[in-house]
Amino acid sequence: NRSFGSIAALVSRDRLAQRLADMAKIGATEKGGVNRQALSREDGLARALLTRWATARGFSVSTDGIGNLYVRREGSDPTLPPVMTGSHLDSQPTGGRYDGVYGVLAGFEVLEALEDAGAVTKHAVEVVAWTNEEGSRFQPYCMGSALFAGKMDLEMVLACTDAKGVSVRDALAETLALAPAMPVRDFGSPAAAYVEAHIEQGPRLEAEGKTIGVVQGIQGSRWFQVEVTGQEAHAGTTPHGARKDAFQTALKMVNALNELMYDPDDVIRCTFGRFEVLPGSPNTVPGKVIFTIDFRHPDAKLVKERGDQVAPLIHSLASPCEVVVKETSTTAPVDFDAGVVDAVREAAEGLGYASRDMPSGANHDAKFMAPRCPTGMIFIPCRDGISHNEVEYASPEHCHAGAAVLAETLARLAG
Ligand code: GLV
Ligand code: MN
Ligand code: MN
Ligand code: MN
Repeated sequence: NRSFGSIAALVSRDRLAQRLADMAKIGATEKGGVNRQALSREDGLARALLTRWATARGFSVSTDGIGNLYVRREGSDPTLPPVMTGSHLDSQPTGGRYDGVYGVLAGFEVLEALEDAGAVTKHAVEVVAWTNEEGSRFQPYCMGSALFAGKMDLEMVLACTDAKGVSVRDALAETLALAPAMPVRDFGSPAAAYVEAHIEQGPRLEAEGKTIGVVQGIQGSRWFQVEVTGQEAHAGTTPHGARKDAFQTALKMVNALNELMYDPDDVIRCTFGRFEVLPGSPNTVPGKVIFTIDFRHPDAKLVKERGDQVAPLIHSLASPCEVVVKETSTTAPVDFDAGVVDAVREAAEGLGYASRDMPSGANHDAKFMAPRCPTGMIFIPCRDGISHNEVEYASPEHCHAGAAVLAETLARLAG
């Protein structure tokens, strides 16, 4: 008995823009971005703010063993599982004001619009802020959604450490202490559907003048951490033939990996995002190098075959150093649910937004939800396609459009 567009009409561009601006103050950087890495003090303050907004509006909040934060608006049939939406509040160290937080606050804006409408949905609608989507500080990435989906072991995740040796367990306790106490639930509660809104993080929508990306799926990815151990020695006195230079060895590995991952079609993505040379002194031969590999491709077979060559290739180049290769994350490509994809496309069309079907190059929590329940995503353009950068920007109009499409999609799925 609700007509199409009635919830979208109550989605407020200004309220959403204000909430995005308020969140962007937490961890704000001088260059206009945010540094709100997972399980930091800033992450805790962001959770506390979302919790305050939720309880002020009469929504219930809960958490789980990894600190995922759930905000719930009840439905009329308590026997039905919730329709879920959300994304993440954590950021890259030089992150923007939209990556992740946009999906959480677009979802929250939908809850507010439903509330303003006095709408009765059959299913409850839940907004979730997943813990550590980014994986910049703690690997594996997407640990919150992966645990929810039953794809990781909690004890293994809690034991993971950052570059300074701080464990997820300790960081989580400190972070959660900054937000009010709330009920703790088990992982893996049933979900009727999951729809995530996000900035595109690439240039296609903007280039084509489209407002909405109807996301078809996410490419596969494999992450590795490589630790090369050589021997520290005096830079002025040690002949090159007698050195165990961890940097020179790592450099050979990187060159060989670039050759392995060379793709004339430029579809393979391969990034060495962390490269630490220790002890980091100009006149000491490096005794240790730690570097990471982020490798992605949409084809499952290529992800498997090329990825399986990484560790053997590295080992073959280790001499005269020692090397340890750890695979820190592995995800196959996923296709989203045709029903949810259609619902997103129809919501965009019905609301009069120009849209296009497209894949996702970036990882999202939706990748882990896809095997659990019917899942889809909504993209909006971001300026110059730039993300994982402090200048990241999405206009209030585009943020509003994505939230309006999310509203109609969720309203339809929630009945
Ligand atoms: C995170 O943003 C990723 O796509 O790796
Ligand atoms: Mn993100
Ligand atoms: Mn990101
Ligand atoms: Mn991501």
